Amino acid sequence: MKTERLQVSGENINRAGEIIREGGLVAFPTETVYGLGADALNEEAVKSIYMAKGRPSDNPMIVHIADFDMLEELTTGLSVTAVKLMDAFWPGPITFVLKKSEAVPYVTTGGLDTVAIRFPSGDVAQRLIKAAQRPIAAPSANISGKPSPTTALDVLEDMDGRIDAVIMGDTCDVGIESTVCDLTGDVPTILRPGYITAENLSRVLCSEVRYDEALYLEPTSGDFHPKSPGMKYKHYSPRADVKIVEGGSEAVSAKIIGLKAKYESEGMKVAVINYGGDSRKAAHDFFAELRELDREGYGMILVAALTEDELGFSVMNRMLKSAGYDVIKV
Ligand code: TXA
Ligand code: MG
Repeated sequence: MKTERLQVSGENINRAGEIIREGGLVAFPTETVYGLGADALNEEAVKSIYMAKGRPSDNPMIVHIADFDMLEELTTGLSVTAVKLMDAFWPGPITFVLKKSEAVPYVTTGGLDTVAIRFPSGDVAQRLIKAAQRPIAAPSANISGKPSPTTALDVLEDMDGRIDAVIMGDTCDVGIESTVCDLTGDVPTILRPGYITAENLSRVLCSEVRYDEALYLEPTSGDFHPKSPGMKYKHYSPRADVKIVEGGSEAVSAKIIGLKAKYESEGMKVAVINYGGDSRKAAHDFFAELRELDREGYGMILVAALTEDELGFSVMNRMLKSAGYDVIKV
């Protein structure tokens, strides 16, 4: 299959919308990461997303909408909490898990009776959904297990020849995937941490918002049963070996210098990632850097841990997975 490169223009977005309506696959930018989109209500189209990504079929899709009216077809009614949170955070980098309607095929939800829905703020994403006149199912546009793509070139690296088209938009603003928040239980629960944190949500609700307990565990732990199917799979792995160094900032810097020298003396090409505690920058750059370092042939990446508060917790979730939880404490 030849993958069309579509520069951002009204005409090309209409063309991309047409491809989606006809059951094809189009990668497109959002404010978080690039998504790989298909008509969320077309079973065959959604199946082809799983194929193109090599994604396990029990890992459900996020369904993207571009106005509040599109919700009605997808879900069976909204709680007061849901309305408050959508009002406050949509359009934006957060996904809400809700009860699904009959219109949403089980292929899209990985067999679940719930559906994850997101109203992205990215302009190109909104225009595409409107052009397609369909809700768009879109996981991140990477091969399953690799870091999520934040540029059109990252998408092409994984998807060229596997999908119909890529919209060649800008680098994504946020750089990590949306927060996934389950609203089907008594207390809103974050299943995947992201740019919007539990603290942000609970400030709006003036009540408790939880993190799924599985987020504090390593996947090898016997008690690890995440509520979000995607959280159990291996993720964000570059080819290079990744190690996290955690502790006070000076001790971490010293340890990293020592380790770098040691691995280099063993003949390895070693890179260092240290955001100096800037979690906003870390979110924006981390996936892009993993991919860039792979292209440059690094064998080892040493990463300075972030403080696990709010956004730092969300980025550390990705860092730990990319390192297979290989953490050196100093
Ligand atoms: O920022 C994002 O969310 C990006 C862009 C493209 O919007 N999309 C994205 O999709 O990250 P994906 O498929 O890579 O991640 C979706 C996550 C997975 O962890 C999946 O298991 C979870 O959302 N999820 C989807 N539907 C769910 C449901 N009904 N219940 C629980 N978790 C669900
Ligand atoms: Mg993904």
